[in-house]
Amino acid sequence: MSKTTYLLTGGAGFIGSALALRVARTRPEVRLVVLDALTYAGHLENLAEMREGPSYRFVRGDICDREFIDALFKEEGITQVLHLAAESHVDRSILGAEAFVRTNVLGTQALLDASRAAQVQRFVHVSTDEVYGALTPTDPPFTEATPLDPTSPYAASKASSDLLALAAAKTHHLDVVVTRCSNNYGPRQLPEKLIPLMTLNALEGKKLPVYGDGQQVRDWIHVEDHARGILLALDRGQSGRVYNLGGECEKPNLWIVSQILAATGRGPDLIEHVKDRPAHDRRYAMGIERARSELGFSPEVPFEQGLRETVEWYRTHRDWCDAVRTENYKSHIDRWYGQTARSA
Ligand code: NAD
Ligand code: DAU
Repeated sequence: MSKTTYLLTGGAGFIGSALALRVARTRPEVRLVVLDALTYAGHLENLAEMREGPSYRFVRGDICDREFIDALFKEEGITQVLHLAAESHVDRSILGAEAFVRTNVLGTQALLDASRAAQVQRFVHVSTDEVYGALTPTDPPFTEATPLDPTSPYAASKASSDLLALAAAKTHHLDVVVTRCSNNYGPRQLPEKLIPLMTLNALEGKKLPVYGDGQQVRDWIHVEDHARGILLALDRGQSGRVYNLGGECEKPNLWIVSQILAATGRGPDLIEHVKDRPAHDRRYAMGIERARSELGFSPEVPFEQGLRETVEWYRTHRDWCDAVRTENYKSHIDRWYGQTARSA
């Protein structure tokens, strides 16, 4: 089997599904294998537009299962890996870090080892700005040389996986590229994250739980821009190198919430300031000069347009919203907002 075959892990999640759809749309010559364990965060509804056939196959499986992954690499003739599978929610990592260490650290190492054994041509490890820790309001944006200083168990597990991926490049000459991206938004993001949670709560006339003073700043990027950046890193990235990706769009949380209220026709009476997240990073901002000059990357979706379209997507996809709000989802929401956030 000599055809270019991508293994995309975490493809039933938010960013993974956007990337899978983009690969299918823009690279018909590529065969795509999506691997996903379908945890509480993975939903086949996200891949409903994909048709299984010679160019695309979905496989349910766990990246931590080395024997299974080895067999998959062999059977499918994987040539490139796009690694997105992870536990991704900071609040959940505060409630319990074990799953984060298992998937993000051990799972990444298993995949690196399997990729080395299968002699894949390139491994793109998709990471996050959270590995750098927090900026003060006056600090310059993160660069790839900013020291790693993660604060949450999620961020620490991602920083660990970044270091393991870079070590595989140095020690074993595995062709690895690491991307670190800022906060994504767009369709199909699970409503445990800020924008979809606030959007659905506003649409349903529920309270919008803003952590602390709501002046924390995030650098927002549309998921389609992130997916494009990952493919640019795959095509043009230098082996062993890290690339920051971001939207150059710093916004405080309260401002985001006010935009969502305006887009849904609701008033500020829905805002409820709740207990702050422990070790809540005050500000993220990504310096993307390296990605701009070496990959030709820049964000394209204007935030106001992207947010308007995203709110509209949630308004018109209530079936999807009902399908993803599973018992696991609901029990996290009850536990976090019931016991942690509100019990100041
Ligand atoms: P998500 O939670 O929506 O999706 C994660 C996917 O991984 C799910 O489909 C889940 O079923 C799958 N998965 C989890 N454990 C698995 C395992 N052991 N084996 C196989 N599959 C497993 O996450 P997301 O927001 O789409 O993030 C995807 C990646 O991008 C993550 O690595 C995350 O750290 C990174 N990232 C996310 C953002 C963001 O803003 N969401 C920003 C930068 C980087
Ligand atoms: O920066 C990239 C990271 O962005 C990714 O690596 C993570 O996978 C992704 O979850 C996201 O992490 P954040 O913690 O920044 O995202 P979240 O949507 O959970 O929160 C965004 C901001 O909104 C943060 O300052 C916390 C705040 N917040 C969040 C929720 C869910 C609230 O004020 N209230 C809420 O109910």
